[in-house]
Amino acid sequence: MVAANIVGAGSPRPPAGSDYHYESVKEMTETENADWEKFVAELQLEVIRQEEALYSAAVLREAREPQNLGRLPDADAQAAVTGPCGDTMEYSLKLANGRIAELRFMTDGCGPSLACGSRLGRMALGMRPAEAAAIAPETLLAALDGLPESHQHCATLAVDTLRAALRELLERSKAAGGGER
Ligand code: FES
Repeated sequence: MVAANIVGAGSPRPPAGSDYHYESVKEMTETENADWEKFVAELQLEVIRQEEALYSAAVLREAREPQNLGRLPDADAQAAVTGPCGDTMEYSLKLANGRIAELRFMTDGCGPSLACGSRLGRMALGMRPAEAAAIAPETLLAALDGLPESHQHCATLAVDTLRAALRELLERSKAAGGGER
């Protein structure tokens, strides 16, 4: 089974420095070119079919159009955590009136990590820090209608990262002489 790639279903391009030259594509006859285009289209359809078999509609929607992606330049707190899989997630957030008013996340991980980062961020926005810190990986998984066993740790990574950012927020607040803002 080909590994599913939720993000970016653009035409495959040969890697830089590979033996595969664009010139050889240009030299293809019209028939060969049509066959190639058909092959690529079928491959993309197959990947989409596999993604839809593996992941819920909620995961696919969130991974394909992640919300709040990026980094807040003037964040009140920011934390990055690397999971056991070697992928890293980062949350930055701003507080206003005791609630999470702005939030961004970044990840260099898999498609499900994008879905988790995005969905968890949407859940946490508007919450008080203690409420957001109480969101469990199981709650996030339920909000995404589940993930395959092999990707459930992606939800834990998102939750651990958000909690680390919230701890940072609390420590900064204590250092500034306040409690939870
Ligand atoms: Fe590493 Fe999903 S496999 S975050």
